[in-house]
Amino acid sequence: MHYFSDQKMNRYIAPSILAADFNNLERDVSLINESNATWLHCDIMDGVYVPNISFGIPVVEALSKISEKPLDVHLMIVEPEKYVDRFCNVRPDFLTVHYEACKHLNRTVNHIKENGVKAGVSVNPHTPVELLTEIISEVDLVLIMSVNPGFGGQSFIKGSLRKIEKARTLITTSGSRALIQVDGGITTKNAGKIFAAGADILVAGTSVFHSSDPKKAIDDMLNS
Ligand code: DX5
Ligand code: ZN
Repeated sequence: MHYFSDQKMNRYIAPSILAADFNNLERDVSLINESNATWLHCDIMDGVYVPNISFGIPVVEALSKISEKPLDVHLMIVEPEKYVDRFCNVRPDFLTVHYEACKHLNRTVNHIKENGVKAGVSVNPHTPVELLTEIISEVDLVLIMSVNPGFGGQSFIKGSLRKIEKARTLITTSGSRALIQVDGGITTKNAGKIFAAGADILVAGTSVFHSSDPKKAIDDMLNS
């Protein structure tokens, strides 16, 4: 599937496996396989870039074997350039690095793309989206963090809506075809507003996997 931003607003959901039951990963991935989600979002945390450690390449490789949805890998790690080839070997749709973690972001973004993987760049809540001006035309995805990265189950930072609008303006004026992804604190209650602000893809962990009916939670967000 080729995803690109155009005047029509897209609506996609990428459930974050971080909130799944790690004692029943295969069961939870099957739930997503049967759902209307478009990607499976994999949150990689190194305990340095963020104050938490999640999982690494062996788990992502295992997920890629059972997920019928393409993977969307979010690297919350320092020196992500060291791991681009190994994560790209798993053939995710997207590999996203943090702006704040890259000394040579243009080189890292192009390294991802040379691997035939779509490149994403993420900004933390305190990082102005305008800092992406020089890279916006090179990336396939802009990930707006609507929580401070490192943990699921946090509350959506309200200022993120304005930031999504700014990202949409930056993409439109630059002629970029990047998609806007928003990640953190997304629920069936705020999903409609976040899509309306200009987001294409919503990442949701807790509100999907801790719901009594994850497939319905995904549909409720898509139809909100
Ligand atoms: C946070 C991660 C998010 C998080 C989303 O650092 O990037 O993907 O897991 O989880 P919820 O939806 O629970 O906020
Ligand atoms: Zn994430």
